[in-house]
Amino acid sequence: MLSISVAALIWLVSLRTLSTALDPTVEGTWRDWKATHGKEYAQEEESFRRAMWEKNLQMIQDHNKQADLGKYTYWLGMNHFGDLTNEELDKRLHCLLSDVDKVTKGNRITFKSSDDPDIPDQIDWRTKGGVTEVKDQGSCGSCWSFSATGALEGMHFKKTGKLVSLSEQNLLDCSKENYGCDGGIMELAFETVRKQGGINSEKSYPYDGTVINDQICDGESCRYEPEESITRCNSFGQIMENDEKGLQEAVAKIGPVSVGVDARSSKFHFYKSGIFGEHNNGKQELTHAMLIVGYNHSSEGKGYWILKNSWSTLWGEKGYMRLAKGSNQCNVAEHAVFPIPDPKKGK
Ligand SMILES: *[C@@H]1O[C@H](CO)[C@@H](O)[C@H](O)[C@H]1NC(C)=O
Repeated sequence: MLSISVAALIWLVSLRTLSTALDPTVEGTWRDWKATHGKEYAQEEESFRRAMWEKNLQMIQDHNKQADLGKYTYWLGMNHFGDLTNEELDKRLHCLLSDVDKVTKGNRITFKSSDDPDIPDQIDWRTKGGVTEVKDQGSCGSCWSFSATGALEGMHFKKTGKLVSLSEQNLLDCSKENYGCDGGIMELAFETVRKQGGINSEKSYPYDGTVINDQICDGESCRYEPEESITRCNSFGQIMENDEKGLQEAVAKIGPVSVGVDARSSKFHFYKSGIFGEHNNGKQELTHAMLIVGYNHSSEGKGYWILKNSWSTLWGEKGYMRLAKGSNQCNVAEHAVFPIPDPKKGK
């Protein structure tokens, strides 16, 4: 029933968009975009998707004109999200369930920040060798697992000097208190790593971005191999809510930190370069999880966070975002956590 009504909706909308004629001057750009991203549509869907893409393209071009005039400090660019509506994007990209309250008793500590910390005024864990390549969550709402592996990779690097890409699929399949492709939180992922005694590598447990429903499959979807464990954590640290200074100190002293962000704006979806910053509208909600890998400032002295995303290198600055620092943009400091290594020797 549902699929029939969705099809009917697309048909209705496409009838309407057909009457508001599509722009023939972007025909070639549209064809190139489809080829680049391997997009193919059924005939009845094509004009609907084209209309969405044109709307997004127009929004991007309007924004960039304003940015060129100095009204914004960041630019947008067409990417693989171009044919989706803002509602579809919000739904698909809502993967952080920050109100899940299952870990109140978890092994958590609160990060104690100093009044006047002795930390560098710029740091980038990428250049130190502690950050793996940018990954792609695809159409699965698994940002929480990418944010968690990123922080665990950083933790392992700091402990051993070795950088090993870790398995999001391991967390998707085995972190049963999370909701797989329907979202989750990093704390529960760290708890899973603690309970199962480690985490496998990306190589030995590769990502496929799907979750097998355990109720059907008798709990066999978890394929964690203890002998192949790369690293373990035994608790996690939490930064005081909305304490951006504390967050900066943690990034400098501890390493990459997992954060929740409000990623609902279409400007966020199509961010391409520069220092991102939206006017806070007071109704922020954390929807997405990312990884802070450093901070720095522009030549004009404007401070920013360096955030690693899991939307492939097609998004942002080769998969990264620079986000204005100091005014809690996108509520970046509301939900910030990091894993704490197991002090025991060995893996
Ligand atoms: C901070 O940014 C400047 C200018 O882009 C760059 O030269 C410098 O290496 C950056 N700092 C770090 C720690 O990466």
